[in-house]
Amino acid sequence: MSTTFAPHRAEEVDEYPHDYASLLALDHAHLLHPQHHPADHAEAVIFDRGEGAILWDVNGKRYIDGLACLWNVFVGHGRQELANAGAAQMRKLAFVNSYVGSSNEPAITLAARLARLAPGDHLNTVFFTTGGAESSDTAFKTVRRYWALKGQPEKSTIISRTNGYHGTTIGATAATGLAAFHPNWGPPAPGFVMVPPMDIGAIEAVIAEHGAGTIAAIIAEPVQGSGGVYPPPADYFPRLRALCDHHDIILIADEVITGFGRTGTFWGLDQWNVVPDVISFAKGVTSGYQPLGGIIISDAIREVIYDQPSASRWWHAFTYSAHATCCAVAHANLDIIENEGLVARAAIMGARLQTGLRAYASHPAVREVRGLGLMGAVEFNPGAVPGGVPALAKAMRERGLFTRTRNDIVMFAPPLVITETELDELLAIFGEAVKATIGH
Ligand SMILES: Cc1ncc(COP(=O)(O)O)c(C=O)c1O
Repeated sequence: MSTTFAPHRAEEVDEYPHDYASLLALDHAHLLHPQHHPADHAEAVIFDRGEGAILWDVNGKRYIDGLACLWNVFVGHGRQELANAGAAQMRKLAFVNSYVGSSNEPAITLAARLARLAPGDHLNTVFFTTGGAESSDTAFKTVRRYWALKGQPEKSTIISRTNGYHGTTIGATAATGLAAFHPNWGPPAPGFVMVPPMDIGAIEAVIAEHGAGTIAAIIAEPVQGSGGVYPPPADYFPRLRALCDHHDIILIADEVITGFGRTGTFWGLDQWNVVPDVISFAKGVTSGYQPLGGIIISDAIREVIYDQPSASRWWHAFTYSAHATCCAVAHANLDIIENEGLVARAAIMGARLQTGLRAYASHPAVREVRGLGLMGAVEFNPGAVPGGVPALAKAMRERGLFTRTRNDIVMFAPPLVITETELDELLAIFGEAVKATIGH
């Protein structure tokens, strides 16, 4: 087969149209989206730019960014500091690998910085990924390897929780407790057991049934996010920590949404003064300006992994692990979070969000209002919203508020920099959309 090589010219990009209708047609023709269903994209919003907590689409329409896009744009859109940090790093160095005998300065100093930011004094070693699912799979492989190298290879089962979301690689899917993600992808990854969330007794039952000697770790989000924003009872994580200690089970905190200040403390588990053995992170570490994630492991795990002959080294890798540009942007992002006091701000603005949403707790169509810090949700009674929650989402969108819904749940997690006025506007638009959709 012969192929002709057509060199790419910058002008070629401009041969494509810029108007909404043409872009939408091209999107429909060529772009397969995450969790794709064509109906979702029939009238997709095509975003163009953002500033702080505000987004504009290609038609110039303004929206409040109700979910920090995908729970990740913590410092808000349009931050020149992050663009500059990325551009400066790219100008210096396109890429170096981080494999055998090779490293780079932004990755080294970011690992040190994250070790300093990690809770307790035993989380000091970082492996970088490019997102949450890679972090989940890395954590699962790491804890299994830890036990195997310690002479307990049968200690391999990962316990996870229903309603939890950990990503959609094969391993992360197996740990994800949202039923829709499971069917029709072929054989699932073995070695995963699901328990109801918030129920320590259910974990005790699994341990009693399978034996602690078969269980490597439990993974939990401090506040379940994508499943619909479920904060735990105050004693849940302290009890889970004690249970893990008692049975020699590793506690993996999936801080992909809750890390870097979302709940009003730097880590989600700081809410209950619980220190895990492994932290999985992504999203807020770069506020979405670059794809970066990773895990922070305990000294105990590190020791076992490091203390191996060459042949049984850490056989785990991603080309883009410790990418210098991503790490440089993460530094600039953490500078903003620190310099602008955004963790404390999340607590203050979070209280405002929770108060605003709780006003709907007595609405006859509402089943429950939940939240912690700057993440909140309103769950409606099944069938209570004419046209379903998608109709409510449409009404919000028309009024200039963009966020995500799941089943009967509307979720909010705006950028931590959202202003008081913008947050009040978010709440007002939600209220108007509820009234327009439900009638009162
Ligand atoms: C708690 C949690 N873990 C993992 C993931 C997966 O991250 P990614 O989509 O970057 O793979 C997500 C994504 O929303 C998440 O919320």
